[in-house]
Amino acid sequence: MRFDKYPKNWRVKGGQPLTEMDKKILFFQNKGHLVPSPDLIKTPEQIEGIRKSGVINTGVLDLVASEIKEGMSTAAIDKLVYDYTMDHHAIPACLGYEGFPKSCCTSINEVVCHGIPNEKEILKPGDIINVDCTTILDGYYADASRMFIIGETTPEKKKLVDVAWECLKIGEETCKPYCFVGDLGNAIAKHAHKNGFSVVRDLCGHGVGNEFHEEPEVEHYGKKGTGMLLVPGMVFTIEPMINMGDWEVFVDSEDNWTVITDDELPSAQWEHTFLMTETGVEILTH
Ligand code: MF3
Ligand code: CO
Ligand code: CO
Repeated sequence: MRFDKYPKNWRVKGGQPLTEMDKKILFFQNKGHLVPSPDLIKTPEQIEGIRKSGVINTGVLDLVASEIKEGMSTAAIDKLVYDYTMDHHAIPACLGYEGFPKSCCTSINEVVCHGIPNEKEILKPGDIINVDCTTILDGYYADASRMFIIGETTPEKKKLVDVAWECLKIGEETCKPYCFVGDLGNAIAKHAHKNGFSVVRDLCGHGVGNEFHEEPEVEHYGKKGTGMLLVPGMVFTIEPMINMGDWEVFVDSEDNWTVITDDELPSAQWEHTFLMTETGVEILTH
């Protein structure tokens, strides 16, 4: 989806005087930065809607956390997600999204993301799996994913899961009002590299809330001071995909969805939906 740039004539919009936030945004735009269009700054009503959707989405992931185990198929996880979401008068956003056939993504080991739940795919000890769920409640979207370790895994895979979690936390802590997307990408990539891992570059986090995928693109690598300015009222995901080996990935040509590491080494990812506030970010999915 494309958005117009912040309107040059914003100061006369509706005859309203410029707010302090408008002035700051215009200041950064005049310096050549990418700034959010007004529709990316959520109203209090929209934020409440996304927050409520986040509560259901967290309930879904908590249910998955309590049920997931060795011997279970990924289709059984998908059924839990579908049933819980529908029982709570919400809709799984993945189902039918650009033709995606299931209600969540289940991505095991070398699968980076967008794995399709399947009857024949059975969880076995040592697997690391990401379950990614997005809920639509009253038209509002909340998006989060978690990693689960089935039984005992190797120390290397455990470390990958832990470092991917730390990368999400570092992204969260770096997010301050009027920072740039590149600031968090930079901090995330530094932490991954310090641990000998790489950051997937072909997929990114995203604005979310009124739609599944909105601007900005939230890359998990990059230069400080680049990418879109983040201001209070914006809602977006951070969802670093961290690879044990190299960052390159490919899409399975049979299903056109499953994203897999080129070197077939494992990958891990955690995701939350965040609201930018006057002081930092608030998680809307826990
Ligand atoms: N939930 C994923 C994200 O974090 C998107 C999944 S799209 C699907 O953006 F179609 F694969 F479900
Ligand atoms: Co997302
Ligand atoms: Co997601």
